[in-house]
Amino acid sequence: MDLLEAIVNRKTANSKFADKKVSDEHIELLIKMSSHSPSHFNSQPWRFIAITDEAAIGNIAKIAGDSMVQLMNDGRFWKQYRKYFRFSEDEIEKTKDGIHIDHLPAVLKPFVRTIFSETGGKVMAKFKVPRILGNDEEKLVASSPLLFVICLTKEEYKKEELSGFYSVISMGAVIQTLWLVTTSLGMGMQFISTPGEIPGNWKSISDMLNIPGDFEMCAIFRMGYVDPAIKRPAIDWRSSQRKPIEELSFKNKWGTAIK
Ligand SMILES: Cc1cc2nc3c(=O)[nH]c(=O)nc-3n(C[C@H](O)[C@H](O)[C@H](O)COP(=O)(O)O)c2cc1C
Repeated sequence: MDLLEAIVNRKTANSKFADKKVSDEHIELLIKMSSHSPSHFNSQPWRFIAITDEAAIGNIAKIAGDSMVQLMNDGRFWKQYRKYFRFSEDEIEKTKDGIHIDHLPAVLKPFVRTIFSETGGKVMAKFKVPRILGNDEEKLVASSPLLFVICLTKEEYKKEELSGFYSVISMGAVIQTLWLVTTSLGMGMQFISTPGEIPGNWKSISDMLNIPGDFEMCAIFRMGYVDPAIKRPAIDWRSSQRKPIEELSFKNKWGTAIK
């Protein structure tokens, strides 16, 4: 696949993957290509864990599902993230950012704004939204043939030093490389961030994977081969809109139009 095509085609994979193992050859290629990413002083602050063991994937899936339920039941999530949610095509066309909840059971549609709000806890519980989302999350993770974990050395990740900032930039670079390579191989990839929102759950996974104390577990992804025929989760979103380059950039100095 052409690089520019891969950049545009790269999308978060929200649905289940094809029922097919990821080949060792592809796993090694993902790691090899990712290792070519830039890092400050070529420090290569990342380490990878490719998880194919079904029991380990099942355990992480359970934690991810439980984390989703807890998060949905906890008003804090909505307080923090409500600003990113869009509920109509018009809304997302206007802002050209955030995620559009464009797929949900018909019975929920009239209540969507109430359900996904800081004060929507009761309505959400009535429609069993936390359970639906938690079950979907657990099933999605459990059915993934590959989980991919990226860790960052604490030797570089020192929050009070500039190297800490650089190492986070390096992590972004390695994640994008990984994502582009999955795209070029006909694979998909999705962040599993919810366990990171619940104190203790992230640590449980990190401990389960024997990650040593001098490394921070930064990101977990589920991966597999994409099958466009597979149906979407019960509640789902898209976020393909992008802001126009005129809004994102300037020429020579801040405030001067790029074109
Ligand atoms: C740091 C970070 C955390 C993210 N966490 C999640 C997540 O927990 N679940 C998820 O489905 N997507 C997650 N995403 C994906 C973004 O929602 C997605 O990249 C964005 O909406 C743009 O959509 P696209 O990837 O399809 O282009 C995360 C992305 C980043 C960079």
